[in-house]
Amino acid sequence: MPEKFKRYTITSALPYANGPIHIGHLAGVYVPADIYARYLRMKGEDVLFIGGSDEHGVPITIKARAEGVSPQVIVDRYHEQIKKSFEDFGISFDVYSRTSAQVHHKTASDFFLKLYGENKFIEKTNQQYYDEETKHFLADRYITGTCPHCGYEKAYGDQCENCGTSLSPLELINPKSALSGNVPVLKETKHWYLPLDQYEEWLKEWILEGHKNDWKTNVYGQVKSWIDHGLKPRAVTRDLDWGVHVPLKDAEGKVLYVWFDAPIGYISAAKEWSEKTGKDWEPYWKDKESKLVHFIGKDNIVFHCIIFPAMLKAEGDFILPDNVPANEFLNLENDKISTSRNWAVWLHEYLEDFPGKQDVLRYVLTANAPETKDNDFTWKDFQARNNNELLAIFGNLVNRTLVLTEKYFDGIVPPVTELDEEAKATLEAMKLFPGKIAQSLDRYRFREALSELMNLARLGNKYLTDSEPWKVIKTDEDKVKTILNVSLQIVANLAVLSEPFLPFTATKLQKMLGMEKPVWADAGNTELIKPGHKLNKPELLFERIEDKEVEAQVQRLLDTKKENEQAVSAKPAKEEITFDDFMKTDIRTGTILEAEKVPKTKKLLKLKIDTGIDQRIVVSGIAEYYEPEKIIGQKVCILVNLAPRKLRGIESQGMILMAEDADGKLCFVAPTEDFMDGSEVK
Ligand code: 2FM
Ligand code: ZN
Repeated sequence: MPEKFKRYTITSALPYANGPIHIGHLAGVYVPADIYARYLRMKGEDVLFIGGSDEHGVPITIKARAEGVSPQVIVDRYHEQIKKSFEDFGISFDVYSRTSAQVHHKTASDFFLKLYGENKFIEKTNQQYYDEETKHFLADRYITGTCPHCGYEKAYGDQCENCGTSLSPLELINPKSALSGNVPVLKETKHWYLPLDQYEEWLKEWILEGHKNDWKTNVYGQVKSWIDHGLKPRAVTRDLDWGVHVPLKDAEGKVLYVWFDAPIGYISAAKEWSEKTGKDWEPYWKDKESKLVHFIGKDNIVFHCIIFPAMLKAEGDFILPDNVPANEFLNLENDKISTSRNWAVWLHEYLEDFPGKQDVLRYVLTANAPETKDNDFTWKDFQARNNNELLAIFGNLVNRTLVLTEKYFDGIVPPVTELDEEAKATLEAMKLFPGKIAQSLDRYRFREALSELMNLARLGNKYLTDSEPWKVIKTDEDKVKTILNVSLQIVANLAVLSEPFLPFTATKLQKMLGMEKPVWADAGNTELIKPGHKLNKPELLFERIEDKEVEAQVQRLLDTKKENEQAVSAKPAKEEITFDDFMKTDIRTGTILEAEKVPKTKKLLKLKIDTGIDQRIVVSGIAEYYEPEKIIGQKVCILVNLAPRKLRGIESQGMILMAEDADGKLCFVAPTEDFMDGSEVK
């Protein structure tokens, strides 16, 4: 039996408000958290399900800078979009807050002050990189350089995205400011550190001994490895102007580190909920009989299992997480989901492209959830799971049962006339499902729970198919009454048990059955729907997803891949030059008058060009792409003040401008209209 708690505080990682939500976020965090919250509510538990936007941190300020707007503009934009897409997708938050809210700034600030007042921080002054041009200390992603571990040249000050190593700016080779591109200087700055080393023994006891058996192995393993490597003091402040200001006198220009303030955001969100509902938030965070569960992705494990708990422990008033069922990552079509490469299925786009099909995505993401290892989402699998599982198993049972009841009994639930062995065994088997599903959900095994739900539908299908009411009706109407009554009980049980997983479908099915909003305890009942009860008109629960729908999605991804490849193959810009440098070049429009191959070469053509100023010879490496006779009369742009040089004994007096793609293919850069030779190009 699971332990009994008075209430549940369920948090889901606060997404950064600098981009939309994608299927990786959903599969890793929000879908399982929502299933869990809905399940507990159905059991009559007192649940506070918390979400919100994480609106601080360096990437948000970098995006704002790139767009030339304030960070607030960025977070306002994405906060609204994210909030709406969660709502439309049926993520049943009790509160969806944001860390730029005043209540959060106050909560985070007070949290810091309490720890500061109780000397729980260490103050350290050390040298940090500083951009003298923009006058910024360069924390985290404001600095880039070469990774000392793998040699990747675009590693960030806090992490190398190539090899995944977590870094500190001082470790980077050839550090560069991401703001100006300048080489930064070292300058002294003071920061506050949480001495994690002092919590090491306590963490060992609490997690390594206390949660060895109930935390997922991927989570436990990561925590153990961090602790085994030894914990070090961690700075909880940054030199930055976007975030929660450090509430101390001598802390001008300093804010709380985003990973210090963000998890406190869960507490702030509870306060916001309390202000809105008039209910007390404190028991959800302070009463030992409340169960706190953090739903996160694997990249957040250290923050939720080590750093935030150490913060909570230091603060002293709050409860600690009972569990942190972190998921691994979901890939998309065999490639890592990436916001910057636009390699994702975005929730807001999915909702537009597949209106009314929230449950299909919820189903696919749960059936294929990356619970114990990284998994892959493919559009083919999405289509197959809809057509072969939701539609062919769940939908088929519901449809056959309701249509036959309508046909034979005018949609009125028939009574059981006599329970034969088969009917009895089926009902007995049905009774076991709520327990099985609950047991899986209590252990955060959402895939397993969903597969049991589908097994219940399979049980119904098998019973119906084996009983053949469409044949029996000709000889024994009473028997058909029993068959359809039993099938209807299974369908009604599905209407209850599917609610946490497929809330839109469950609601639709409950309406078709004319059921009141069910509770979990209704499940397992073999008389959930009473004889004589009139059912509503059956409707289809799921639609077939056609090839062309998923092909369009795959095509979109292929287009993205192509765009990315093109972007990757474009060479980076050369070093900056001044306007005066550019003005030294003299480029004119001209016309090719004569062209011939330079003997014994593959690439060179000897061209005679009318430059408007004169007629001159230019040797150009375009022979592999242009036949000489075909380019007579071709308009060109020519650099006329390039110092002459000899190529194969011929003096070349200038250079024709050509564009060259990544494969080395050439094309003339020339006026698109008939333009006077000798015109200046600038
Ligand atoms: O990794 C992320 O997307 C973070 N924004 C998660 C924060 S979770 C919590 F601490 F707020
Ligand atoms: Zn690296």
